[in-house]
Amino acid sequence: MSTTTATISRERIAELTARESDRLNERTAGSGRMYERAKVPLAAGVASSYQVRDPWPLYLERGDGPRVWDVDGNELWDFHNGFGSMVQGHAHPVIGKAIGDRYGSGTHFAAPTEDAIIVAEELARRFQLPKWRYTNSGSESTMDAIRIARAMTGRDDVLKIFGSYHGHHDTVMVSIGIEYDKIGPHDAPVSLPYGGGIPQSTVDHVFAVHFNDAESMERRIVALDREGRKPACVIMEAAMMNLGVVLPEDGYLQAVRDITQRHGVVLIFDEVKTGICIAAGGAVERFGVQPDMVTLAKALGGGLPTGAIGMSEEVAKVVEDGTVYQVGTYNGNPLGMAATRASLLEVMTPDAYAHLERLNDRIVSGCEAVIDEFGLPGYAVGVGSKGCVTFSTQKVIDYETFKANQDAELCDLAWLYNANRGIFMTPGREEEWTLSVTHTDEAIDAYVACFREMASDLTA
Ligand SMILES: Cc1ncc(COP(=O)(O)O)c(C=O)c1O
Repeated sequence: MSTTTATISRERIAELTARESDRLNERTAGSGRMYERAKVPLAAGVASSYQVRDPWPLYLERGDGPRVWDVDGNELWDFHNGFGSMVQGHAHPVIGKAIGDRYGSGTHFAAPTEDAIIVAEELARRFQLPKWRYTNSGSESTMDAIRIARAMTGRDDVLKIFGSYHGHHDTVMVSIGIEYDKIGPHDAPVSLPYGGGIPQSTVDHVFAVHFNDAESMERRIVALDREGRKPACVIMEAAMMNLGVVLPEDGYLQAVRDITQRHGVVLIFDEVKTGICIAAGGAVERFGVQPDMVTLAKALGGGLPTGAIGMSEEVAKVVEDGTVYQVGTYNGNPLGMAATRASLLEVMTPDAYAHLERLNDRIVSGCEAVIDEFGLPGYAVGVGSKGCVTFSTQKVIDYETFKANQDAELCDLAWLYNANRGIFMTPGREEEWTLSVTHTDEAIDAYVACFREMASDLTA
């Protein structure tokens, strides 16, 4: 964070935003035409509502290593990396070979293959959890993990972190994306559905507490227990990855571990974003705190839709004895397993993690230097392959501080600056960058140079 913060006029931000929007519309006219065509057969012209962008999304054509190309032929360094899924880079030849070899021997049997065992052995080593099952997405992983915790404890209620995203099934679509004035009291924030179609009876089973406040979590568990509603589980990200990047304060995760153990509540680390990306063993390795369950997806499959659930011996019993049906036609799909095996054993190696750490230090310190030079209201934060600039004069530690302080207009402007200067960032104000093992200093320096240009224009 800069010691002296420049005052940035709202008029200047608006003026630059209008200029950069016009520039991007001109550069992406082909995407505009594709959108006109797409919105006829595709609802809102996209495959997922998170791909919507006004006036149109950028339609991509191809990717190679750290770069992607849109349909207008614009070449971009990819820092979006498929919402953090492509930490291996695009079209990695090692993963491509594994997929090609597997394709020639059949891609789907709905019967286990050896790769499923090899991947589980490697995940057990990395995450220190002995038992594994597969899914096809992050949402399936968190859905099944919660069901397993419910079956194991015989309880229906779930405790989550306010503002955290864990996928699109009903139970976790609660207490996210809520306006600041609707959050409610700090110790008992509201449970509200995220969008339509979520039954109130489901919302009624979900409670939330704020990140980085273990005492508040314990008070909530005790209060719920008194009402006969002790939660089956706490589901949380060990570092929040949907408010930029919010790291756990010292001692917080250990305190959560102690509290959940003391009250007999299953602790699930949702590592759909952190797993594979912030260390070989994700947040478990990085922060040294052992949950009862871990959920994985995104970067796990090296670009194929693959998810996994890690369990302690005790938790896995309800799956092994048939109490819970943890099922799915495509679970452990041989193509996904082949890609995952190649990714884990040959691509995401100790050298790859060392490379990501070095690059992330370079981008974080480069952005920090720009913030200091121009007195920008913000700070850079990074962990493993992930990071962001948080545009806030206050440190963001949870959803409340995020909503109260984040400068949303600067986030939007930064995305436009990047897009116009050959840098593809995740659309959305809450998002962070994901570096890939194919990124180089050149890509990092391009990012920092673009950030510097914006800072200079803002303070001119
Ligand atoms: C932490 C976390 N959990 C779960 C999910 C859901 O994953 P998917 O989109 O693969 O269903 C996401 C997606 O962004 C996520 O960030």
